[in-house]
Amino acid sequence: MSVREASDRSPDWDAATYDRVADPQTRWGAAVLDRLPLRGDETVIDAGCGSGRVTQHLLERLPDGHVVALDASPSMLDAARLRLQGNDRVRFVNANLLAFSPADVGAPVDAVFSTATFHWVLDHDRLFHNIAAALRGGGRLVAQCGARRNIDQLTNVVRGLGVERPGSWLYASVDDTVDRLGHAGYVDVDVWTNEEPTPFDTADQLRDFLEAVCLRECLVTMSRDDQRAFLDEVVERMPSRIIDYVRLNIVATRA
Ligand SMILES: C[S@@+](CC[C@H](N)C(=O)[O-])C[C@H]1O[C@@H](n2cnc3c(N)ncnc32)[C@H](O)[C@@H]1O
Repeated sequence: MSVREASDRSPDWDAATYDRVADPQTRWGAAVLDRLPLRGDETVIDAGCGSGRVTQHLLERLPDGHVVALDASPSMLDAARLRLQGNDRVRFVNANLLAFSPADVGAPVDAVFSTATFHWVLDHDRLFHNIAAALRGGGRLVAQCGARRNIDQLTNVVRGLGVERPGSWLYASVDDTVDRLGHAGYVDVDVWTNEEPTPFDTADQLRDFLEAVCLRECLVTMSRDDQRAFLDEVVERMPSRIIDYVRLNIVATRA
């Protein structure tokens, strides 16, 4: 696993592995995309585009439009470039959602779309302000990320093994999110959660997924042998091969 730093807090992603295992995120992302009304000629930011699997669906909805594929992780952006190569309607931007400027993304844009990303961004007030600054008046924000109680069961198993998941995620509540969006200047705000229990066919698939996504931050300080033993133990102790995801859904309009 690469431990190159994507930000001060978080190790970089293993983009090739993420791309291989991210079927759940791709499935959720496609469903979230259905909530974004598009004519097909708009410019939309994919905020935290990862390896570009959901970005590809977004591009299909924009036959005459453009996508700004933004991510803080150089390896994720490389994977997205590879996946979407030859498509001149995508612009790749290596930037932190807490630090980008409207000029970085060619603002104002028509919409910002984001899936499986905002919980990795610890300051949601600043996040929503930054996004509002990039949106045109009346532009939409449509997003989904981890909600309060997300993967509680998994976190308890990990804690039972004496390992704390480091505090580099924010699983926000509906009420806090509605307040933050209001303060950041959004109207027609709709925020809700849904449970998304996610089953895996085999223990190997579950282990791969935990390694690449949920537990990647716990693993970086362990030796390869300790990582294997830890992952085996987590899989063994989980009550089933189901990860107890809870998603926070956001639809809002910039005033
Ligand atoms: C789980 S991946 C989701 C990728 C894609 N949206 C999907 O649904 O498959 C989370 C992505 O968010 C990016 N990310 C996390 N924090 C970020 C930040 N502060 N600024 C920009 N990107 C960030 C990570 O680099 C990673 O590519």
